[in-house]
Amino acid sequence: MPAPVIVAEGLLKRFGDLVAVDGCSFVVNEGEVFGFLGPNGAGKTSTMRMISCVSPKSGGRLEVFGLDVERHPREIKALIGVVSQENNLDPDLSVFENLVVFARFFEIDRTEAARRAEELIDFFGLREKRDTAIEFLSGGMKRRLTIARALINRPRLVILDEPTTGLDPQARSLIWERLRELRGRGSTVLLSTHYLEEAERFCDRLVIMDRGKVLVDGRPDEIVSSYMGRSVVETVDTPDVIAFLEREEIGFERFGDLVHITIDSAEPLVHRLVEDCNPERLFVRSATLEDVFLRLTGRGLKD
Ligand SMILES: Nc1ncnc2c1ncn2[C@@H]1O[C@H](COP(=O)(O)OP(=O)(O)O)[C@@H](O)[C@H]1O
Ligand SMILES: [Mg+2]
Repeated sequence: MPAPVIVAEGLLKRFGDLVAVDGCSFVVNEGEVFGFLGPNGAGKTSTMRMISCVSPKSGGRLEVFGLDVERHPREIKALIGVVSQENNLDPDLSVFENLVVFARFFEIDRTEAARRAEELIDFFGLREKRDTAIEFLSGGMKRRLTIARALINRPRLVILDEPTTGLDPQARSLIWERLRELRGRGSTVLLSTHYLEEAERFCDRLVIMDRGKVLVDGRPDEIVSSYMGRSVVETVDTPDVIAFLEREEIGFERFGDLVHITIDSAEPLVHRLVEDCNPERLFVRSATLEDVFLRLTGRGLKD
């Protein structure tokens, strides 16, 4: 078992009276795609900024590659690539130039920088735009270039804050593909997102955060099955249905005008519900992280 890439224990971030990160503990292992999942204000960015050594922690323990973030920020920064949420490319430069200029921060010589830039241009499908100025790129291309730029120092850990937010589904899936490929080459990928389906599909492990706290961590499928059972039966909230569920002692949750029943094998329940109550609407679907979040917080993730 390789040493963990990140260890956080009771991690704390305060802004005045506000506790943005409230005693978070988690471990990120080498070579995994690890997600921070949570609504706006959950503390994802604050956590990632402490890991990136750009924002001091207010308390707790935080180590990256076994190095303490307070004592070894320079060493850590040399080993990581960071993609912040906002696009901060140089608008006057071309795709190629943006990559090469960024390499100077890491004292990579010009020939080597150019070589890596060409490689990254291919990896992110930007060959046709190599000499194009940033202003003529689509949102998805800009994001791909921002990620490419963060890889110029061949980081062992890539940290991305909402890399797919605001992009259309096609642009998002292209970015996920590349991130998975990076992982295949041995990089560790840490990212935040509020797209639950994407996190469920692409993250090896994740934590769900809300209001500065880690609510759960684990593999997406394990989180879902341990909290929910495999299936969710959704039907209408009518007196008939509620009476039936109470009589049968079947647990349920009410959301708006719907009732959710989570269960491992849905079929027998569905038959009996239809026979007994004949509800106007009824459907069965697989349980998702969204259901877990709803159960844990009483709220949806989309705000
Ligand atoms: N620089 C700051 N000064 C004061 N409050 C901040 C600052 N940055 C973040 N916060 C607050 O900390 C909380 C967590 O924010 P953030 O880490 O950005 O969450 P997320 O990235 O999950 O949306 C929010 O309540 C936010 O308003
Ligand atoms: Mg954020």
